[in-house]
Amino acid sequence: MAEIGKDIIKAKLLLESGELVAIPTETVYGLAGNALDPTAVVKIFTVKDRPHFDPLIVHVSSLDQAKNLVESIPEKAIKLAHVFWPGPLTILLKKKAIIPDLVTAGMDTVGIRCPDHTLTQSLLQSLSFPLAAPSANPFGYVSPTQPSHVNDQLGNQINYILDGGVCQVGIESTIIGFENDEAIVFRLGGLSLEAIEKEIGKVAVQLNSSSNPKAPGQLKSHYAPQKKVVIGNLPELVKKYASKKIAVIAFSKKIETINPDHQIVLSQSGSTEEAAQRLFSALRELDKKDFEIILTELVPESGLGKAINDRLHRAAAQ
Ligand code: TXA
Ligand code: MG
Repeated sequence: MAEIGKDIIKAKLLLESGELVAIPTETVYGLAGNALDPTAVVKIFTVKDRPHFDPLIVHVSSLDQAKNLVESIPEKAIKLAHVFWPGPLTILLKKKAIIPDLVTAGMDTVGIRCPDHTLTQSLLQSLSFPLAAPSANPFGYVSPTQPSHVNDQLGNQINYILDGGVCQVGIESTIIGFENDEAIVFRLGGLSLEAIEKEIGKVAVQLNSSSNPKAPGQLKSHYAPQKKVVIGNLPELVKKYASKKIAVIAFSKKIETINPDHQIVLSQSGSTEEAAQRLFSALRELDKKDFEIILTELVPESGLGKAINDRLHRAAAQ
């Protein structure tokens, strides 16, 4: 198992010697390595068992550091970075040659993000290079939102997990790119569309799928637990699957027809922010237990609701 601790110097020394370290961010834990060192980047793909066509996000401590890594930054992107960085927004920008092609899967854009977490900010500021970091889970599985999630799955393959507690946002960053000055969101995530549109006006949304080369990681089945996940009207689903060992993830209240111990409520107050924060832990918790099927329901589409529903659909896709 990996060591879990808050030692930034230890994390820094490991990263400087080309090793990987799991790092906390406000969205999910990342599996980090020196983004400018192809050998470290290869290790990331190997540990995650991730196909090389799926590019990595590069984490920086500031917009200034981002400027050294990319050819240019559209005005709308600058505005978004000023307003939302550090925060759960990844911006696709034309890369400089200094970013290895491995990081971007050969594409000419690189995803850049400035994470909002004090430990990881201190770490980034102490390093002379940016950190490539996908979510710290095996490819295709649910992202980790606390150190034990990382340790459960990758603990045998890495030495150190920097312990930043439970992730505050709980789902991955929103990814936005620009084509001829038009903004396009390629992954819904921890920053809502409403918040983005308030700053730069209407944005296009192009989610999915294996057929969308712009976000090759957006496979239909992704963020998926091992157990079968079914989405729908909970009381009806409970009837339909009555002969199975079922567990329920409900949005704001438990249903009366099954054992309350077999149910997790994402947010009693009906907040999509709180539901996002708890979603991946709920999926992991039930996936570990002795159930056959996880039944769940869509949440209201406002705030982070669209991003939550996107993750639920991917978790349910076979
Ligand atoms: O919140 C997050 O973004 C977390 C934390 C650790 O920062 N990271 C994360 O990374 O979710 P990952 O690798 O699990 O997902 C990154 C997604 C992938 O679907 C990938 O295809 C897409 O970002 N991506 C990365 N670079 C891209 C690029 N240049 N063009 C299009 N899509 C890109
Ligand atoms: Mg991921």
